[in-house]
Amino acid sequence: MKNYKASSSRYETSDTLYRRCGESGILLPKVSLGFWQNFGEEAFYDNCREIARLAFDNGITHFDLANNYGPPPGFAEEMVGRMLKDDFHSHRDELLIATKAGYDMWGGPYGSWGSRKHLIASLNQSLRRLGVEYVDIFYIHRYDPCTPLDETLQTLVDIVRAGKAIYIGISRWPLEALKYADVFLRKQGVPPLIFQGRFNMLDRAVQEEGILDYCTEHGIGFISFSALAQGLLSSRYLNGIPAGSRMSRNGSLQAEKLTPELLCYLRELNGIAEKNGESLVTASLSWVLAQKGVTSLLVGARTPEQFKESLRCLNVSEELFKALPLYEYKVFP
Ligand SMILES: NC(=O)c1ccc[n+]([C@@H]2O[C@H](COP(=O)([O-])OP(=O)(O)OC[C@H]3O[C@@H](n4cnc5c(N)ncnc54)[C@H](OP(=O)(O)O)[C@@H]3O)[C@@H](O)[C@H]2O)c1
Repeated sequence: MKNYKASSSRYETSDTLYRRCGESGILLPKVSLGFWQNFGEEAFYDNCREIARLAFDNGITHFDLANNYGPPPGFAEEMVGRMLKDDFHSHRDELLIATKAGYDMWGGPYGSWGSRKHLIASLNQSLRRLGVEYVDIFYIHRYDPCTPLDETLQTLVDIVRAGKAIYIGISRWPLEALKYADVFLRKQGVPPLIFQGRFNMLDRAVQEEGILDYCTEHGIGFISFSALAQGLLSSRYLNGIPAGSRMSRNGSLQAEKLTPELLCYLRELNGIAEKNGESLVTASLSWVLAQKGVTSLLVGARTPEQFKESLRCLNVSEELFKALPLYEYKVFP
C-alpha cells in the first residue's frame, strides 16, 4: 500500500461534522468508527487500513476499541497499534482513541468484570497493544452486579489521575447505576465524558429507559453502538442472507431475528428512503443522529464502500427522517 498522506481537506466540514460531547471540552464527529468485528485476525490489513484512512481523511477522529475486539480478543488493538505506526504516527493528537475493559478477556477470576485488578491489568495490556502511553477514553464496558460500584469507579478515577486515560466512559450500565456513577465521579473531579449504549431504529431501550434524557440533562455525551443493528438496517438482508454477511458468519446476529414481520418493516423503510433519494443505511443513521441527546454514532463497516455509504448520512437533513415509522416489536431483548 502507498505511504499515507492525510487529506489536507479533512477538517473542511468541521462546522457541521462535530458535536460537543455533553458539557465537556471534547468535540466528537457525528459518525465514529468502531473496531468490534471487522478488524480481526482474518481481516485483510490493507482493507482495514483503507477504512481507517478513509475515516481520518473525512475528519472522523474518533476510533472506538475494546480489549476484546478481534477476533481473537486483543487483535483489533494490535491492528490499530500497527496503523498508528504505519499511517497515523504524526496524527496521534488528532485522534480520540477509546478502549474498554469488563468483558471476558483472559481466563481465571481476573480476566473480566469490574474489579480494580481487571481494569488496571487490562488497560496496561491495551496500552501495550496499541503502542500508546494513554487512551483518550477508557470505558467500563458493562455493569458488574457483584463488584462494589465504588471499587470500579475509584479505579476509573485513579486511572485518569495516573495519566493512563484522559476521560472516563460508561457502557451499558442501567440508569440507576449511571446516576450513582455520575455523582461519584463528579465528586472526585472526573465527570463521566460519555455513555455508550445500543441505539438504533430497532432498539430504542436507552431512549425508553431515560438514559438519553439523563445524559442530556446532566451534560454527559451519548454515543450509539450498532447504529445499523449489525447490518439489519441496510439493504443487506432484504432478499435473503448473503454469503459472508455477519448473519451468515457468527453468532452475534442470529438468523431468527429476521422474521417476516421485520423484513416487511425493513422493506417499507427502504421504500421511504429510496423515495427520498437515500438508502436504508443513510435514512436509519440520520434517524439516530436526529434523536435528542445523541452526540455521535458508531459504524462498524467491513469495507471502505460500506463506510462511504454510512458517511453519506451526514449530508441528509436531520428533519427528513426524524419521524420515520418505528417497529413496535423487540428485536434485541
Ligand atoms: N459497548 C458495547 O458493548 C458495544 C457493543 C457492540 C458494538 N460496539 C461498538 O459499536 C461499533 C459498531 O457496532 P456494529 O459493528 O454492531 O455496528 P453496525 O454498524 O450496526 O454493523 C456493522 C455491520 O453492518 C453492515 N454494514 C455496515 N455498513 C453497511 C452498509 N453501508 N451497507 C450494508 N451493510 C453495512 C456490515 O455487515 P457485514 O459484515 O454483513 O457486511 C457491518 O459489519 C463496534 O465496532 C464497537 O466499536 C460497542
